[in-house]
Amino acid sequence: MSKAHFSKALRVAVTSFCAAGVLAGSVFVGAAVAADRKPEDALKYRKGVLTGLAWHFGPVVAMAKGEAPFDQKQLSERAAAMAALSNMLGEGFIQGTAQGQIDGSRTLPVAFTDSADFQKKLEALQTATAALASASGSVAQGDLGKHVAAIGGSCKACHDTYRAK
Ligand code: HEC
Repeated sequence: MSKAHFSKALRVAVTSFCAAGVLAGSVFVGAAVAADRKPEDALKYRKGVLTGLAWHFGPVVAMAKGEAPFDQKQLSERAAAMAALSNMLGEGFIQGTAQGQIDGSRTLPVAFTDSADFQKKLEALQTATAALASASGSVAQGDLGKHVAAIGGSCKACHDTYRAK
């Protein structure tokens, strides 16, 4: 593609993107973001966030169990990452992405029909990871287990109800 052609294509794309944004914003307040999203992208996104949570949680569990050296700096970084990821997770659960609606999804349809309870379980995760993030700079190794149990319990509570076996 020539440079001139490319920049025209870009201009057209940007213009139509903005027009769609204005339109969506005026008609569906608050739904503009979700309306633009493809179900398969939302599935990839949430799996990425969940994989990230597990990635950081593993070494924290190991420290709590004494299976890895207690490292306060590493703990703080992982706790901050988990708190951030917890706040990013909800956005990945958009309508049309339940098991049976899209390949590869293990989210039971009830997550979308009982969304108030799903939201409560998400908030339990956010509360537990935020508590560890704020305590992580000073928490003793012996008290880490309580945080790990609270976080792990929030993962399990949601999985038991909303994740397909
Ligand atoms: C609010 C509900 C909820 C919470 C809280 C939650 N999960 Fe999940 N998790 C799910 C659901 C639903 C799935 C299935 C996702 C799908 O395939 O659609 C899942 C899937 C996963 C997966 C598999 C991802 C993949 O690639 O298929 C991992 C790993 C995971 N969760 C880890 C965790 C960890 C670790 C925690 C806690 C720190 C956690 N989850 C907390 C709902 C939750």
